[in-house]
Amino acid sequence: MINRQELIKKYLDFFKSKNHKEIPNARLIPENDPTVLFTTAGMHPLVPYLLGQPHPLGRRLCNVQKCVRTGDIEEVGDETHHTFFEMMGNWSLGDYFKKESINYSFEFLTNILKIPKENISVTCFAGDKNASKDNESAEMWKGLGIKKIKFLPKEDNWWGPAGKSGPCGPDTEIFSNNVEIWNNVFMQYNKTAEGKYIPLKQKNVDTGMGVERTLALLNNLKDNYMTDCFKPIIEKIEKSSGKKYGKNKEETKAMRIIADHIKASVFIIADGVAPSNKEQGYILRRLIRRAVRYGRDLEMTNFLMKVAEPIFVIYSDYENLQKNKKKILEELEREEVKFLETLEKGMNIFVKLTKDKKEINCKDAFLLYQSYGFPVEMIEEECLKRKIKFSKDKFENECRIHQETSRTASRGKFKSGLADNSEKTTRLHTASHLLLAALRIVLKDKNIIQKGSNITPQRLRLDFNFPRKMTDEEIKKTEEMVNSEISKSCRVIREEMSPNEARKKGAGGIFNEKYGDIVSVYTIEDFSKEICAGPHVKNTCEIGHFKIEKEESSSSGVRRIKAVVD
Ligand code: SER
Repeated sequence: MINRQELIKKYLDFFKSKNHKEIPNARLIPENDPTVLFTTAGMHPLVPYLLGQPHPLGRRLCNVQKCVRTGDIEEVGDETHHTFFEMMGNWSLGDYFKKESINYSFEFLTNILKIPKENISVTCFAGDKNASKDNESAEMWKGLGIKKIKFLPKEDNWWGPAGKSGPCGPDTEIFSNNVEIWNNVFMQYNKTAEGKYIPLKQKNVDTGMGVERTLALLNNLKDNYMTDCFKPIIEKIEKSSGKKYGKNKEETKAMRIIADHIKASVFIIADGVAPSNKEQGYILRRLIRRAVRYGRDLEMTNFLMKVAEPIFVIYSDYENLQKNKKKILEELEREEVKFLETLEKGMNIFVKLTKDKKEINCKDAFLLYQSYGFPVEMIEEECLKRKIKFSKDKFENECRIHQETSRTASRGKFKSGLADNSEKTTRLHTASHLLLAALRIVLKDKNIIQKGSNITPQRLRLDFNFPRKMTDEEIKKTEEMVNSEISKSCRVIREEMSPNEARKKGAGGIFNEKYGDIVSVYTIEDFSKEICAGPHVKNTCEIGHFKIEKEESSSSGVRRIKAVVD
């Protein structure tokens, strides 16, 4: 038996003995690289150096790198797919090339890991119009006594770039017992954004060896989830659910998805991401919510914190996990609770919409999905359970229509209130103006502006710039101030004017945004004046009682309030 930490140590010690310097395990969020959301390979942080910039630690480097790949998130559930994994790698930045790289790999596999050379097979690049056939690598493998050598096309034996452009090249892949364990890339090209392959001045080597699959292989396991990178998490899930791993196919799949997604989420949060609706935050949200959904299949709820515990033990060598443990667990729990609430609300609406029906209308299904955040998989499942027909095609068509409409809307063809003009959302729109005005007064900060707003029939959500958490006292005062304006029955007046005039009159708005020539300004007595597309009530007395449900961080320097009216 060899465990994760031993394998990593053997790898790094070996390459250090070959004069490689260990570089830090980089953050999962790539610095200065807008082409990808996450670090997907060890070479990622090295892109500038692969392109020719000198690296401060020299031309021979190695490390173990945490990676996230979400391209095949739906594939997770079998024995070998993961969104989070670790990759051991060694690099030559214009130093050694094919010969040494292949020799090092061979020596490490056969001498250090003691893999019999008869078990090793390799593939090499077959050549195409951009790069020639890699006979050199094949000859070297032959010279080392490897008999099973295949030439394969670009789809198999070419790696990179990691994003849309960057360094790439032909590779030779190394298999043991038919499992690909190591990939040696000979990075000689830079693929440009226009799709051209420009030869690089320096010839680099970039190799990557997956920790999980190598461990499975060395320990004669078919299933990566039985290695020490996963087993304690699976055991925790077994304990929490009372179900046995490996007994039932669907349940086993659910356990793998939960283990993988929670692990990826823990690492993503540790690197400073919070669940949100965009970019990394959106992927994180999706991972957490998928884990929760699969947990329901195992009859588990409120389990994320518990199942996450062993991750901090397995990866005791990651300081940022240990340091941020409390925050990570809180973030997981918060998103889980939020999602469970969403599901509960969605379920109530689902039941109402489908009462006595044999089929769910695609518009209703879309409403559930869009306005209530109810996952489409759950609509499918619930319909199946209740023998209600659900046409995924019609639903997808509805999504397309909506996308088209919102694109048109964002081109400015519709003025306002496109999505929902119900009486309830109108009341919430006006409430959010009162809230913004009250925040400026209570927090004694005239520069508070709206950073984002999202209104559903259930609640308003307002993001605003403010550097710290509000105190309970401040929240209470804000709530009282809004309710006091409501009870004064103030008229809400709409006027049209130029953005410039609006600014002069002290209306709130984001003035570096491109407004049209004429904007609507809504004024509520001398309490609030905002540029807004509406819709709004005519008098604040229509709003009803206002209540803040939550005050939390949205992103750095931005707070988020969720509030309701009844
Ligand atoms: N970049 C290559 C890979 O990800 C080798 O590290 O497979």
